[in-house]
Amino acid sequence: MRIELTNIDKTFTGAGRKVRVLEGVSLEVESGSRTAITGPSGSGKTTLLGIMAGLEAPSSGRVRLGQTELTSCTEEERAGFRARHVGFVFQTFHLLPAFSALDNVQVPLELLPRDRRPAPREIRARALELLARVGLSHRTSHLPHELSGGEQQRVAVARAFAARPRILFSDEPTGNLDRESGVRVVEALESLNAETGTTLVTVTHDLELAARSERVVRLRGGRLEPETS
Ligand SMILES: Nc1ncnc2c1ncn2[C@@H]1O[C@H](COP(=O)(O)OP(=O)(O)OP(=O)(O)O)[C@@H](O)[C@H]1O
Ligand SMILES: [Mg+2]
Repeated sequence: MRIELTNIDKTFTGAGRKVRVLEGVSLEVESGSRTAITGPSGSGKTTLLGIMAGLEAPSSGRVRLGQTELTSCTEEERAGFRARHVGFVFQTFHLLPAFSALDNVQVPLELLPRDRRPAPREIRARALELLARVGLSHRTSHLPHELSGGEQQRVAVARAFAARPRILFSDEPTGNLDRESGVRVVEALESLNAETGTTLVTVTHDLELAARSERVVRLRGGRLEPETS
């Protein structure tokens, strides 16, 4: 699915101060492509990803995913669209604390609309397969607090894959991983892209991961730097 951002601005207001975090960001991402977003800490990467995914509204500007104009949808419509088409790996994981690793991966499948929801047995099989792909077959019944940071991150990646999203946004998906686990996560992302044509947008400080993308865009102080190609 294609992504089109037009002139995005984002300003946070609170306690008598205004922070302009994004300024005039326009970006087109082709369907099925792999794009990395880099930039210094505080440059607005996470904010931009949240806006692209419809988790957050921009202060002004337009966001279009496929044929859907997210910025003219209601909150409920955006949530429905996300459940059907969008996967997200959060920088801080956001796993459900009372659910096992396996249950966390199953949740997005259980939340699919009935016409798209697999049978319970298939949901379980798919979740187990995804956990195996990220090297966690031996941790399926662990709760998040019983997992290391890197293991939680890999559960978050498996969960984001579960419903086979048309677009997958990942925020530092290898940030807590050693090289071997990092490569495994990157390969899982790349195979999702190759097998299902999922558009990948990945925020990363990892230069090796960025170099494996087809395109690298850089944010600096809330603006996109001109691309060199
Ligand atoms: N809810 C908020 N209210 C006020 N300011 C915010 C809010 N969220 C983010 N900011 C500010 O916006 C700026 C960009 O934040 P963001 O999280 O997008 O950066 P980032 O590029 O992802 O950084 P990092 O690499 O450290 O994750 C930061 O200076 C931050 O303090
Ligand atoms: Mg961030």
